[in-house]
Amino acid sequence: MSTKPATTDSKPILRVLGGEAAGTPPIWLMRQAGRYLPEYRKIRAQADSFLELCYTPALATEITLQPIRRFDLDAAILFSDILVVPHALGQEVWFVEGQGPKLRALDPAAGLAALSTQGLQEDGGGLLAPVYETVSKVRAALPNDKTLIGFAGGPWTVAAYMVEGGASQTFQNVKRWAFSEAGSFSSLIDLLVEATVLHLSHQVEAGAEVVQLFESHAGVLPEREFRRRITEPSARIVSGLHARFPDLPIIGFPRGAGALYEVYARETGVTALGLDSSVPAAWARHALGRTLPLQGNLDPVHLLAGGDTMIEAAAEIVATLGSGPLIFNLGHGVIKETPPEHVAALVAFLRGGSE
Ligand code: CP3
Repeated sequence: MSTKPATTDSKPILRVLGGEAAGTPPIWLMRQAGRYLPEYRKIRAQADSFLELCYTPALATEITLQPIRRFDLDAAILFSDILVVPHALGQEVWFVEGQGPKLRALDPAAGLAALSTQGLQEDGGGLLAPVYETVSKVRAALPNDKTLIGFAGGPWTVAAYMVEGGASQTFQNVKRWAFSEAGSFSSLIDLLVEATVLHLSHQVEAGAEVVQLFESHAGVLPEREFRRRITEPSARIVSGLHARFPDLPIIGFPRGAGALYEVYARETGVTALGLDSSVPAAWARHALGRTLPLQGNLDPVHLLAGGDTMIEAAAEIVATLGSGPLIFNLGHGVIKETPPEHVAALVAFLRGGSE
């Protein structure tokens, strides 16, 4: 938590993260940059690969700023990906158009021998130096009232991609490793905790003012493994960052955690909680939001569908979650078929709706 009085921050998102309840909640959207924007698709078509976009500061800066130019949002989120961390550790990572990320899968037999945080420890961050250069370019270009958010994947989610070799329906390879060879799996999680603290620290040094931990696959673990593989490593990341940057606001997003959101809220030390769309608003305000600012949680399909129903759903979120400190967001990322006009309509409603 910030030790400064919350009211000295002029940026709405920082005020909410300092514990202030705003009349009109500030807003940003997960995946606010990306394929639903024609101006993104134009740049994407000219580049050889998605990773080339991430590693070219001029392009990544432009893409980060695109949604800020179009919509009245309160924050920019760095354009990058959670999978640049395994890439920096030495794993092969590539993106196949239409299929998503692919990685040369790790297994318990081969282990972690080929991976190292050495690159991330270099001054400037080695392979990821262009990512940190993007952060400083965006910060320099951003208007004074907008917040710059950096991010990383949570260790469990990143490990899942590393072991499954890409997206998965069942997560059975990563879960089997975690359940049957707990010791060697802990070494992978420990490596990711160290890498994540380094990666986020470089982003903060370059100008990120808030960071979000995307634990997007938190929902696939039973309670005891959730505590061991999500809560405990996240707590180490939070304390590692707060040892270096005591005032840094950290938003934790354990998507799909259900009732385990309470454990995560109590035990990780995060500054604020990102809620997925399945979390009931009144329960969240009562059970989680008495101690922490909340962020969320409009269903991205409401944004895709648009119209009066989207506005009604947004109004309910503001009425319930907005009784305490709230950053309005989706419960997961913007879907690529979303008409940009729906985003404009949502933002216009949120700006005018509670005045
Ligand atoms: O939010 C933002 O606007 C910032 C940029 C951002 C991207 N990925 C860009 C991206 C962020 C914060 C992420 C996080 C991310 N990446 C997560 C966590 C959040 C979540 O969605 O659960 C995960 C799991 C990934 C891994 C990843 N990257 C997947 C599964 C995919 C393929 C799915 C898809 O939407 O295509 C990506 C690719 C990716 N990351 C794209 C973008 C804009 C699309 C790539 C393209 O243009 O071809």
